[in-house]
Amino acid sequence: MKQSVKLIAGNWKMNGLGASLGEVETLCAALADDRPACRVALCPPATLIERMVRRAGQGVEIGGQDCRAETHGAFTGDISAQMLKDAGATLVILGHSERRQGYGETDGLVSAKAGAALAAGLAPIVCVGETLQQREAGRAVEVVRSQVMASLPLALAGRDFAVAYEPVWAIGTGLTPTLTQIEEVHRAVRAAMIERLGLGIAATPILYGGSVKPDNAAEILAVPEVGGALVGGASLKAGDFLGIIRGA
Ligand code: 13P
Repeated sequence: MKQSVKLIAGNWKMNGLGASLGEVETLCAALADDRPACRVALCPPATLIERMVRRAGQGVEIGGQDCRAETHGAFTGDISAQMLKDAGATLVILGHSERRQGYGETDGLVSAKAGAALAAGLAPIVCVGETLQQREAGRAVEVVRSQVMASLPLALAGRDFAVAYEPVWAIGTGLTPTLTQIEEVHRAVRAAMIERLGLGIAATPILYGGSVKPDNAAEILAVPEVGGALVGGASLKAGDFLGIIRGA
């Protein structure tokens, strides 16, 4: 992932049925007519990956939203990185706060999953972000820095991946940090990435996520060190997602 080309990725979370694939067709038709200046990805529920890959064609990369660290075995309900790859995915979101908080995922587990994703040939998008309590206590930078240091396996050096900074309190709330706050954390994330993995990752994109909408995308994407966006709700409708892509 080169820094000059931003990555706009949509996280559909637990939304979308076969009937929603029309949105992807609309999106792809619009992108084919007017090629975007950025990379575009969609991460639907696992049930839609294969069908979405078939509809999306070349212009939109398709990813998973999580994977298990193990390659296979007696883990009812779980999905391996290899299975996502086999279904046609090229990337996978890991360590989203909804998984860190809802399933007790630790930095160590996220790191193991990122290693598994790399081994399967997927580009991980590793999520980090502070809670409102942590921000109000003045600990946002410290918390995010420690998540970056412990969630990125050394094997990521030189590989295709991204980090997504998603303040927990900005997800699905309509609230966003100020542009200055976004820049401050993104600079801290970059410094931690370099400390952990070396200067070779200077061009790896750091995405911002949390209430990105068509009307705030351009200003957020223009912040130094913001290399793209991870978009939840506004990625479900082709028109909204296109509005964000056009802001990149
Ligand atoms: P929203 O864009 O709905 O706030 O969600 C952000 C997110 O969690 C993307 O992973």
